[in-house]
Amino acid sequence: MPELHPLLAERWSPTVFDAGHKLSEDQVALLLEAARWAPSAGNSQPWAFIVGCRGDAVHRRLLTHLAKSSAAWAPTASLLLANLVHRYVEDTDWEYSEFAHYDLGQAIAHLTFQARAMGLYVRQFRAFDRDALTAEFAVPAHFEITTMAAVGALPAGVSMETHRAAQGRRALVDLVHTSATSPGQLCSGT
Ligand SMILES: Cc1cc2nc3c(=O)[nH]c(=O)nc-3n(C[C@H](O)[C@H](O)[C@H](O)COP(=O)(O)O)c2cc1C
Repeated sequence: MPELHPLLAERWSPTVFDAGHKLSEDQVALLLEAARWAPSAGNSQPWAFIVGCRGDAVHRRLLTHLAKSSAAWAPTASLLLANLVHRYVEDTDWEYSEFAHYDLGQAIAHLTFQARAMGLYVRQFRAFDRDALTAEFAVPAHFEITTMAAVGALPAGVSMETHRAAQGRRALVDLVHTSATSPGQLCSGT
């Protein structure tokens, strides 16, 4: 059986980041470039990002709205993103896409794999005060902050094997809505 690409096989979401690691402006731009080129329904591109690099003013403002759980690990990441999606608001000329959240997820997935290609790791999280963050950055009503993402490098000595909590996955056959009971039957046409 062919193997999963290493970018996928070696992706995981750490809760530990190298507090000494910094990203250059070009690297941050490249990560966002990956999100920018994600597919979206009708090419609606319904996403936007608040971008805080550790040590800068935006990062400091983002930090103040983390929940207790994410405040335990996210601050040491090199980059914090708040991920915004366009949402329906009456009386605006924005053409609402019912796929907006789906598309934002794809954009973050693209960013995640670009990060992996750069030797970096991403953990997405919901553990923040959405209302407070919305007010802090005066997010307009036609945008919603959905998630945040922490991006950074692993500290020396930390690896998937040493650190990742066991993250099981449902069996492949459980994902397939046919009568297949093993991967060998996937294309049997039943
Ligand atoms: C939309 C979304 C929200 C998440 N929220 C949190 C969160 O609030 N706190 C956290 O520690 N991890 C959060 N995660 C990370 C998931 O727990 C993690 O991706 C999952 O357990 C699978 O682990 P893996 O990414 O290492 O394979 C979130 C992930 C996603 C995609």
